Amino acid sequence: MKFTLGYLSGFVFALTSVSALAETKTVASPDGNIIVSVSDDAGLPSYSVKYRNEDIIKKSELGLEFKNVDGFVRNLHIVKSETNASNTTWVQPWGERKKVNDNHKELIVEMAQQQKPFHHFNLHVKVFNDGVGFRYEVPKQTGLEQVDIVDEKTEFFIPDSDKVTAYWIPGRAPRIDEYLYNTTTLTQMTRAQTPATFKLASGVHLAIHEAALVDYAAFTLEPKQPGHLKADLTPWYDGIRVKTQTPFVTPWRSIHIAPNAIGLLNSDLILNLNEPNKLGDVSWVKPGKYIGIWWGMHLNQLSWGMSDKHGATTERTKAYMDFAAQYGFSGVLVEGWNLGWDGDWVNGGDKFSFTKAYPDFDLPEITRYGKSKGVELIGHHETGGAVTNYKNQMGDAFDLYQKVGVTKVKTGYVNEHDRMKRIDENGIERMEWHDGQFAVNEYMRSVTEAAKRHISIDSHEPIKDTGLRRTYPNWVSREGARGNEYNAPWSTSPNTPEHTVMLAYTRMLSGPMDYTPGIFNLTPVGLNAEARIKNTLAKELALYVVLYSPIQMAADLPENYFEKDGKTLKPGFQFIRDMTTDWDDSKALAGEVGTYVAYARKKRDGDEWFLGAITNEDSRKLSLKLNFLDAKKKYTAEIYRDGETANWKTNPYDLVVEKKTVTAKDTLDASLASSGGLAVRFKPVK
Ligand code: NOJ
Ligand code: CA
Repeated sequence: MKFTLGYLSGFVFALTSVSALAETKTVASPDGNIIVSVSDDAGLPSYSVKYRNEDIIKKSELGLEFKNVDGFVRNLHIVKSETNASNTTWVQPWGERKKVNDNHKELIVEMAQQQKPFHHFNLHVKVFNDGVGFRYEVPKQTGLEQVDIVDEKTEFFIPDSDKVTAYWIPGRAPRIDEYLYNTTTLTQMTRAQTPATFKLASGVHLAIHEAALVDYAAFTLEPKQPGHLKADLTPWYDGIRVKTQTPFVTPWRSIHIAPNAIGLLNSDLILNLNEPNKLGDVSWVKPGKYIGIWWGMHLNQLSWGMSDKHGATTERTKAYMDFAAQYGFSGVLVEGWNLGWDGDWVNGGDKFSFTKAYPDFDLPEITRYGKSKGVELIGHHETGGAVTNYKNQMGDAFDLYQKVGVTKVKTGYVNEHDRMKRIDENGIERMEWHDGQFAVNEYMRSVTEAAKRHISIDSHEPIKDTGLRRTYPNWVSREGARGNEYNAPWSTSPNTPEHTVMLAYTRMLSGPMDYTPGIFNLTPVGLNAEARIKNTLAKELALYVVLYSPIQMAADLPENYFEKDGKTLKPGFQFIRDMTTDWDDSKALAGEVGTYVAYARKKRDGDEWFLGAITNEDSRKLSLKLNFLDAKKKYTAEIYRDGETANWKTNPYDLVVEKKTVTAKDTLDASLASSGGLAVRFKPVK
């Protein structure tokens, strides 16, 4: 009926008639707190979101625009819709919790063009108690086969932008995701990477991100009018955003919604929006702790390339393996083992060989030695962003690692954000973005090629995490933010005291991060040098609990874990030895964005709990209820806390280690120093 009116009666009449007959479909979260509405008002697809009766996303545009053919932008109407409900639990092979509850309501709305050729798409909306996801599905249809997407219209209109606080890093900026976070009003925010986090005047917290980014371009948030954030897809070198064919689906556009800051953290939204494991038996994917020939290069005591201080030698690797075996680390990462590091490797990534070692690095001998000690070499593939060079060698490179028994590989894509080098079919060099569709597919290639050889991947300078570890559990970790490397002497602006606290509420919403904590020599070039770790030692320990990753590095030089005598281990090191990296459950206990955060996590298939709390520049007192502990047990709490004189700036090493007996009824009172922390292991008393 609506269609007939619009089609026969001309444009002006069509608009009024259509808007008069606009349809709205709604769906509520299982607890009823979140309501999403989808409308075709004025022929324009749009949506809005209410949380506990507050408009948190006001009427926001939807749509896809194609090159050369009419897309889904205007003159559309809702043809039909359906709703479904689902409440299931699934198991993570590894993760921050074992069992994940997926309880959601679903709305599928079919929208079609009101004029020939009547092309149509489906908008899928899933509403959980902790947020919303929606995606476009474009079925196969005549005249819509090969599709070039030139724009995605999706926007997120958060009202009262002057009263909304935004926590964000720049989007599509030179250093990819390696920035310090900004705290501004939403009105002041400029183009931002996701996840971006928002605090509304009511205290409600939101985070905007995406899930299941596969064969599509990532988006950044581009503010248009105040509060109107547009999903701006990263283009190919030629301006096209996505080159695809029907049928296709876009990634899920996601909105975390919580009544407070820690509500954002206690969410499985991103994982639940991803597809189940596609790799089958993944018992070969093993979480673990590792050390590495790594920080020495960042300190400039060793070199990646060949020199008299070459880091990756057979002898040094064996010594590191001895240390790893003795203190419970399953892996030793070695960077700079392969040819190609000499000269400007960032702009000369094409020179990297991924199969040829430097002459002083005997790969078969090293891996044989490691096996005899129960320690694995962790492989390293730095590409310098020259991904075609990597692609051409990838099969051989992973074959080699598989042959010698390497099961984890750290990859790297160091270069400016728009300098991912692609050699096209005609041999022409093209520069692509690190988060365009091309790059998305190259990161995926490394993960799927590695999976074929039972190898896990830890990507540095990665595509942002969108929860694909659920589908590809060998994608164990990644960087995708400023890690500890930014505290090295080469850094002109090291990480601030608030940085890691900020990560918890932003970057970490997307998934595990290989931050590489555990630097014990916090002041490698002096207490007063600008480049140093701006944390206390207790905070550096707490990062192991707060910043989740199934693989965690003890990043310092092994010698720095010993006292001056070179024999006695430093007391804090025991916490790293006792720590695990795989969990049955995780709970954010308390916190505010960028200010402080406290986490408790229960060891996977074990009965120990670990607690980590960190603060920004401000010292603070915390009273943490221990009611997460098993009420029937008594625990020894092994506490690593800031001493009375601890302060990141003047006295970062004042660490007190003490024991207490506690139960679930107790409250743990703690004083965190300026940029301080608290790390606790709870061990049941037998
Ligand atoms: C940047 C990575 O984040 C860092 O960990 C690595 O050492 C260098 N690239 C060299 O690959
Ligand atoms: Ca990096």
